[in-house]
Amino acid sequence: MTEIKTRKLNSAFGLEVAGVDPRAPLDAGTCATLRKLFDESGLLVFRDMADDFRFQTYLSEILIGNEVADPDALELTTCYISNKDPAGAAPFGRLLYHSDQMWSSTDRVDLLSLYGEKVEQPATPTLFVSAVHAWDTLPEDLRARVKDRVALQRYDVDTYKKRAAGDPDVLVSTYGGGDAFVITPIAYRHPRTGRTILYVCQQTTQKIEGVSAEESDELIDALLDHMYAPGNEYAHPWRQGDLVIWDNLTLQHARPNVVTSGPARILRKTLAPLPRSAVRPNYAALEAAR
Ligand SMILES: [Fe+2]
Repeated sequence: MTEIKTRKLNSAFGLEVAGVDPRAPLDAGTCATLRKLFDESGLLVFRDMADDFRFQTYLSEILIGNEVADPDALELTTCYISNKDPAGAAPFGRLLYHSDQMWSSTDRVDLLSLYGEKVEQPATPTLFVSAVHAWDTLPEDLRARVKDRVALQRYDVDTYKKRAAGDPDVLVSTYGGGDAFVITPIAYRHPRTGRTILYVCQQTTQKIEGVSAEESDELIDALLDHMYAPGNEYAHPWRQGDLVIWDNLTLQHARPNVVTSGPARILRKTLAPLPRSAVRPNYAALEAAR
């Protein structure tokens, strides 16, 4: 077993990890250590990693507790966040805070990873906050008002625009199933760690059920102000060769503005499990409309 060293990235979550020999399969002890670090910290950063899509996919599977009997048999599904590749996703714009597929009633994504395949400086960071930390530190009066309530999560343009608060850089994209929505508990139990997640986000939480529209807006604003308060955020400073892996339920992610004419920012993404219902927005049409 290799000796694993860690460094904290933020007081509430995130670790930089060194000392892992990045070859699949990892021995059982290393797998157990990495799974524990992942569940405790929500975000693992490995630096100066060779370009190895198979290892990225392998690590994404084992960190959520899956056994991978034959790493060579893993199906590699290419997905890029890129401001240079026309086939990439989210090629421009600022992204509001969210968890992937939070609006989907059929596909829960437990883990996301990004590998810095080509990163020119200055690189726009990826931003993270912990929704578990947000629940743990929620003021008692606010917690009492929402702990038994449910919220409607939906990709809808009006919610997007409201949260963009007039910032024209925000990428407002709706997905194919624009009417798809899901109703979820605001105090959401993490299926693997059992911890409570404050399950509302800037991008897709449309309203809280069972209260007036005014009270819903007031509560959501208070919850989001608490979650995204200064000091709660970790901004990952991208370098080529970084492998960043996070718990898509424990953490939310966002980013400041990216432009297609800026430095190359080509990040290879994995999702585990891979959603069946993901539909690409028409980015060319969105950019043309800006
Ligand atoms: Fe995302």
